[in-house]
Amino acid sequence: MGDPGDGVDSVLISEDRLLKRVGELGEQISADYAGKRLLLVGILKGSAIFLSDLIRKIDLVVDYDFIAVSSYGGDKHSSGVVRVLKDLDSDVRGRDVIIVEDIVDTGWTLRMSYLVENLLARGASSVKICALLDKPSRRRIDVAVDYPGFAIEGYFVVGYGLDSNGRYRNLPYIGIVTSDGKN
Ligand code: IMP
Ligand code: MG
Repeated sequence: MGDPGDGVDSVLISEDRLLKRVGELGEQISADYAGKRLLLVGILKGSAIFLSDLIRKIDLVVDYDFIAVSSYGGDKHSSGVVRVLKDLDSDVRGRDVIIVEDIVDTGWTLRMSYLVENLLARGASSVKICALLDKPSRRRIDVAVDYPGFAIEGYFVVGYGLDSNGRYRNLPYIGIVTSDGKN
C-alpha cells in the first residue's frame, strides 16, 4: 500500500487504485460525450491533480478552466459560507461542461455556490459533476454526483490534491488523518 507520509495515519486508496478508477472515468466520459467538445471546470485547489490525470484519459476535443470558491476558511468543517475567489476565464456559451471536484462532503460548496445554475445561466449547453471522492454520510445538502470516483466513509482524507491546512496535496495516494493534521 505504500508508506504513509509523516502525520498520515493510513492509506485509504492506493495510487494504483486511484489511477485505475481515473482511467475508467475518462473512458466513461469519452463514451458519453462522443463527438462533443468538452470543457472541464476544476474547482481549485483540490481538483487540480485529479483533473490533470483525468483529462489525459479523455479521448475527445477537450479544454479546461478553473474556478476557486471558498467554504472552509482553514477549518475542517464547512462553514456554509461560499465565496467565489476566482472566476472562469472561458466563455461557456454552448459548451458541454463537467465540473471537476476533489470531494463532495456536506455538499455546501457545490450547492451554495450555485455553480451548476450559474454555468447554465451563462449559456452552457449542459453541466454535470465529476468528483473523485464522495462522502454520502456527511451530506447536508442534496448534490448528485454524475461521475463519482469512490464513495468513502466520513473520514478526513488528504493527498492527490486534498490538503489539511495546505499540507499533503502532493501525496500520490489518499490517506486518512485522524490526528489534528496540523503537524
Ligand atoms: P463540501 O462543501 O462540504 O461538500 O466540501 C467540499 C470541499 O471541502 C472539498 O472541495 C474540499 O476542498 C474540502 N473537503 C471536504 N472534505 C475533505 C477532506 O476529507 N479532506 C480535505 N478536504 C476536504
Ligand atoms: Mg475543493
